Amino acid sequence: MGFPAVRLRRLRRNATLRRMVRETRVTADNLILPMFVRPGEGIRNPIPSMPGHFQYSVDTLTEAAKEAADAGVPAIMLFGIPEAKDPSGGEAARVDGVVCEAVRAVKEACPGLCVITDVCLCEYTDHGHCGVLAENRDGNPDVDNDATLGVLVEEALAHAQAGADIVAPSDMMDGRVGAIRAALDARGLHEVAIMAYSAKFASAFYGPFRDAAESPPAFGDRASYQMPAPNAREAMRELELDVAEGADIVMVKPALAYLDIIQRAAQRFDVPIAAYNVSGEFSMVKAAALQGWLNERETALEMLTAIRRAGAGLILTYWAVEAARWLERA
Ligand code: PBG
Repeated sequence: MGFPAVRLRRLRRNATLRRMVRETRVTADNLILPMFVRPGEGIRNPIPSMPGHFQYSVDTLTEAAKEAADAGVPAIMLFGIPEAKDPSGGEAARVDGVVCEAVRAVKEACPGLCVITDVCLCEYTDHGHCGVLAENRDGNPDVDNDATLGVLVEEALAHAQAGADIVAPSDMMDGRVGAIRAALDARGLHEVAIMAYSAKFASAFYGPFRDAAESPPAFGDRASYQMPAPNAREAMRELELDVAEGADIVMVKPALAYLDIIQRAAQRFDVPIAAYNVSGEFSMVKAAALQGWLNERETALEMLTAIRRAGAGLILTYWAVEAARWLERA
């Protein structure tokens, strides 16, 4: 049977029919808001490349987290910008560090808000790489995988002990999920979940974030630890290993240029799939919207819908608060 008996436009005639046959829904339940916290008080430094986003101090962050929760956003992801940086990122593991302070403050002010912490060293090292450096076999400085694991474990433990619901390692070291799981369990922190940045690609789309988190690498790039963009099968191995090591949630990042990876991950693994709608994806729409070249709301919701349609149940997005409000009225 074909045209004229078949007419697909029949079910597109009005909003009610379209609503009834809608295959993919984005709701506030799917959204996680990334936030940046630095030492100090009363701080709300605008991030120039990410209009509407700020580096907060613990007090202002707590207020903003409350607003997000009131808008219906179930979770935030915390990134810390420390007082001081050093070669091994020692500040990252401090129980009185800014992320731990923020976790305690937010959990006290909004107990129902899920607090996730990014576990990585790039904001804490003076060279901006995601781990401790050593000379590799080529005689070049490179991140030493196994030496980094110990610091990451300490950082994850500090966040968990401060009250984080979920820790999210984003460094891309081999074996870190297993190491963090074992350390959490050994300390009775078996209720703390791990959301692994499993398929994290070396991407130009992280540019604005590195300004926000003050974490660009001082030399070279992250290609020796983050994944190469062309490799989908390798991404499946990364996901598989993290699931085997005990990841409760696995993430694909960035989202939009990697929808095929999200789709394959969702088809293959029965754990919740998260996708990170990264800073560059946000900033390019913001910039175009400020020029009047794109409608921000429609573009953002279309992007979030595409990420959901590909199979992500959780979306980290800088639009989380606006999107929660837009969707409520949709
Ligand atoms: C590393 C980290 C990065 C992002 C999240 N965690 C940046 C990087 O790898 O350089 C990027 C997030 C974004 O672009 O929104 N701690």
